[in-house]
Amino acid sequence: MSANQSTETGSPRSIRGSEAEEKLRGVDEVLLDARDVEVHFPIKRGVIFDKTVGYVYAVDGMTLQIRKGETYGLVGESGCGKSTFGRALLRLEEPTNGTVTFAGTDLSTLKGEELRTKRRDMQMVFQDPLSSLDPRQTVESLLLEGMHAHGLTKDKEAAGARLRELLQAVGLPAAALRKYPHEFSGGQRQRIGIARALSVDPQLIVADEPVSALDVSVQAQVINLLEDVQEQFGLTYLVIAHDLAVVRHISDRVGVMYLGSLVEEADADGLYATPLHPYTRALMSAVPIPDPLIEDHREQIILAGDLPSPANPPSGCRFHTRCPWRQEELCDTERPQLRVVQIDGVPASHRVACHYAEQIHSGEIERHEVDAMAIDPAANEGGPTVNTQENVGGQPFSTP
Ligand SMILES: Nc1ncnc2c1ncn2[C@@H]1O[C@H](COP(=O)(O)OP(=O)(O)OP(=O)(O)O)[C@@H](O)[C@H]1O
Ligand code: SF4
Ligand SMILES: [Mg+2]
Repeated sequence: MSANQSTETGSPRSIRGSEAEEKLRGVDEVLLDARDVEVHFPIKRGVIFDKTVGYVYAVDGMTLQIRKGETYGLVGESGCGKSTFGRALLRLEEPTNGTVTFAGTDLSTLKGEELRTKRRDMQMVFQDPLSSLDPRQTVESLLLEGMHAHGLTKDKEAAGARLRELLQAVGLPAAALRKYPHEFSGGQRQRIGIARALSVDPQLIVADEPVSALDVSVQAQVINLLEDVQEQFGLTYLVIAHDLAVVRHISDRVGVMYLGSLVEEADADGLYATPLHPYTRALMSAVPIPDPLIEDHREQIILAGDLPSPANPPSGCRFHTRCPWRQEELCDTERPQLRVVQIDGVPASHRVACHYAEQIHSGEIERHEVDAMAIDPAANEGGPTVNTQENVGGQPFSTP
């Protein structure tokens, strides 16, 4: 049930209706600007003295902008750094390098109270609502917590009215206020998680796998709810997900992440119609199409091997150890930057981090069988290394 469907007593009243409209009007305005963001976790060893022996390069050069009112979808396989990046945007994880500018303010310049106040504008919705909601708190107390922290509960009556509005917006009955999280189904708990994020009237919501822990039957309801409250409250979203269908449905633009950075970014329709990066093509080819005729004839790229360890990422193009189009020149040695491609019909907003995107698209470079290059897990120290068949011991895999 969507938020709008849930209002039997009339249409839902937005918390700040006119502001919501204002937010949506400024749709081309950049709300969040992340530049070269890196999050490197130190790997410590030692019994008495902790010695840093290497780093996990979880986020390693993420640059993206999110415009006011849009939904930016971030996809990539498990462990590529999506959650760490989402947390770094809100400074829940301290970036090692790079800048995050939110509504014109460089967040790295904020400390203590200033940062806490700013966080009101940026909220998170988590994958697992049960573990993100304190089981000892009633829904009322969960919703009031953030409002209280930001001084939004001074007028008791207004706070009560606001609680009712929030519940109505997420399609829960007023009686839910007195219940505890375990008394709800998974979908309802995610509604509470969304209401809690909305309670402080944020501008940006980072939704990290918001439906992947839910039954397929309720996923669509929660996605619809996210869309409804976006419109109602003029929200901007970063939606992190590994499910390409979810991302396509909800996103205006999509970024594809591989081992800590973006490999492709485009409008959702453009990306799905013309995926240009070999990794994106592989991801897309793994999504089943319900039409057997199309399914039988479409491109299938099966990537063997796991995501290399972010503690020892491959040199050059991070995807070169698994890329069926890898070339002798450049791929192993030079890290490709996200760039506009020279392909007819592909707009400048569609950017790809591949040295050979044009030649791969035209067919000039053909797909070939490749020997996967395993990364030596012992070689963690000292950052990215050049991986050759000699120093890593090849583990062959082939692409059909
Ligand atoms: N606090 C930490 N200390 C060390 N390494 C970490 C820490 N948090 C995350 N990592 C590592 O950073 C990498 C990226 O993790 P992250 O959770 O951001 O990936 P993800 O893309 O969200 O994956 P998933 O789809 O499974 O949620 C992983 O290798 C993870 O093990
Ligand atoms: S730069 Fe080379 S290895 Fe990387 S995706 Fe392009 S062709 Fe493949
Ligand atoms: Mg994650």
